Amino acid sequence: MGKTFAVIGDPINHSLSPNIHSAAFRELNLDCSYIAYRIPKDELSEGIEGLKKIKISGFNVTIPHKVEMMKYLDKIDESCSLIGAVNTVVNNDGLLKGYNTDMEGFLEPLKKRNIKINNSNILLLGAGGAARAIVAGFAKEKANSITIANRTIEKAKNLSAFAKKINLDSKAITIEEIGKSVKNYDIIVNATSIGLQNEPSPISLEGIDEKTVVYDIVYMPMNTDFLKRAKEKNAIVIFGYEMLLGQAVRAFEIWHNMEAPYNAMKKALLGGF
Ligand code: ATR
Repeated sequence: MGKTFAVIGDPINHSLSPNIHSAAFRELNLDCSYIAYRIPKDELSEGIEGLKKIKISGFNVTIPHKVEMMKYLDKIDESCSLIGAVNTVVNNDGLLKGYNTDMEGFLEPLKKRNIKINNSNILLLGAGGAARAIVAGFAKEKANSITIANRTIEKAKNLSAFAKKINLDSKAITIEEIGKSVKNYDIIVNATSIGLQNEPSPISLEGIDEKTVVYDIVYMPMNTDFLKRAKEKNAIVIFGYEMLLGQAVRAFEIWHNMEAPYNAMKKALLGGF
């Protein structure tokens, strides 16, 4: 019988992960299926029992379960323990092993463009689960410093302490405090959810130039106001769907032990817009 995979979260009906993975199965003629399964915030335990009962082979984890899911793992990959959150799970006969492919997924589009992270100065907006994986990525690639700007300063301070612990120089500010300082950064990343509801850019990009890299992890809509403003300045723009694709490719390779059909997955993802 074919293998079954899933993505769990809430809300889940707009997830593009089923499109991406199903396209990969078709491309490689794999007898597998991938479903979206809504599990509300306080029903994770029962949800996981259900997945074990249907002998799920593996699943992705998204909002709001990425941190909570850690409790239910029998084994934890290094990527996952470093970040403290899980987005990919393998089920080996009822034993669950967790991985985090968000960090590599985030870095992939930067590497593909040969953008130098080493010694760069980063401005990161947001201090939630996704921001944490991003901080780990910049630490791994030896960025010079990261300024973490968040609406809630306490969360920025916590994340900044994490950055320092993994040897990345860091400071915490509020989003208002960014002011006109954007020109001081090589790479600017939006890891807040601002843009998902078509909100205006959280910051002014006045002063950046064509060397500045502007990366939005919001992937729906594809062209957020934040990225539109970056394009007006001829900055190097990286779309949220690229990170989504990067983490999916990694998850595929963990589950299936073979190279992922990148182009087929990309085509399916872009078709979803
Ligand atoms: P994710 O897993 O996607 O990172 P999260 O952990 O809920 O989700 O984090 C959401 C991030 O978006 C947080 O940094 C949040 O700021 P707060 O820590 O102040 O809540 C930020 N965010 C969400 N909506 C926002 C808004 N309207 N204005 C400013 N920041 C917002």
